[in-house]
Amino acid sequence: CRRSALPRQRDPATTTPPRGPRARPSRQAPDSGSAPPPPTPRRGRSQSGFLQRRGARGVFWSRGLEEQVPPGFSEAQAAAWLEAARGARVVALERGGCGRSSNRLARFADGTRACVRYGINPEQIQGEALSYYLARLLGLQRHVPPLALARVEARGAQWAQVQEELRAAHWTEGSVVSLTRWLPNLTDVVVPAPWRSEDGRLRPLPGCRGELANLSQAELVDLVQWTDLILFDYLTANFDRLVSNLFSLQWDPRVMQRATSNLHRGPGGALVFLDNEAGLVHGYRVAGMWDKYNEPLLQSVCVFRERTARRVLELHRGQDAAARLLRLYRRHEPRFPELAALADPHAQLLQRRLDFLAKHILHCKAKYGRRDLGLGYG
Ligand SMILES: Nc1ncnc2c1ncn2[C@@H]1O[C@H](COP(=O)(O)OP(=O)(O)O)[C@@H](O)[C@H]1O
Ligand SMILES: [Mg+2]
Repeated sequence: CRRSALPRQRDPATTTPPRGPRARPSRQAPDSGSAPPPPTPRRGRSQSGFLQRRGARGVFWSRGLEEQVPPGFSEAQAAAWLEAARGARVVALERGGCGRSSNRLARFADGTRACVRYGINPEQIQGEALSYYLARLLGLQRHVPPLALARVEARGAQWAQVQEELRAAHWTEGSVVSLTRWLPNLTDVVVPAPWRSEDGRLRPLPGCRGELANLSQAELVDLVQWTDLILFDYLTANFDRLVSNLFSLQWDPRVMQRATSNLHRGPGGALVFLDNEAGLVHGYRVAGMWDKYNEPLLQSVCVFRERTARRVLELHRGQDAAARLLRLYRRHEPRFPELAALADPHAQLLQRRLDFLAKHILHCKAKYGRRDLGLGYG
């Protein structure tokens, strides 16, 4: 089973911990010229045949397998949350249960609980909100908890009953915070076997026939979700999940056997991509530090959820990803104008990452896939 190598050497530029201060401006993202060269089309019969039996059609997971992915958050739940969170009056605001000390667990008048995320830096909430809407644009919202924005206003009706707690939180008046429903019974998740490695190397998902062949149906259903996660984290340049594990391999050879940060399994069984504040803004600013992990990780995946691949190819063809993202964001989030939108260089970087990903998908299709995407590619 061929493996994609990952950098192992300790590079001073990469020794900043994931949450550390920004060390240097981002370098250029991989432009389309650095995408894998288009290989000579081959039918890849044995690969397709193998994956067919193991739950994939060409480079796509089979419909049967996709249908077994737990539903996660629905569109209706997202709409209901936006409605509920906006009108809610906070009656309790506690420390604990929602991560770092600047976050709070809130209780609304109707008993609903929510995690309130406060950004030390405004780009954290901006990245969280933009990542949420990018997930919706890509059709991945089932994995990302619905999010609504709120404004910290000591005199506003929303916070009237928690004045003292608000003072104790030391949140700056007027700042924008995010509200997500508090999710009960989240459990930890370890990276699946095809990416687990003690030698700092990645194993390409479709090449390791033996490994896939030994997986149970439940493990394959997990892999379907992981392939979406890896695409999402590549697009948003989110270093604060699997990529930070890969980075830590330098001094912690067992890190891949530990829980992945900012990833849980929800009570219904679907993977929940929590805490996306590193995505799109902070992540783009430091993409140069992390892309040596992000790119091989992305290239280790050659099986995709068909709908996700279609969305990516549409956004590649349209060359209008940032505009579509902002339209969606503006349509659903009335506080959209209170946070900065995606800056132009970041909007261009999003498009370049989509282009890079689209080329990778087409490269996989040419190498392994037999089905036409029906979009005029390949
Ligand atoms: N919406 C939520 N529902 C339930 N638990 C949550 C929620 N958000 C965060 N948590 C809990 O808090 C932990 C840290 O959350 P995270 O959002 O990653 O915060 P931080 O900013 O500290 O990284 C999570 O691993 C989870 O246990
Ligand atoms: Mg976190």
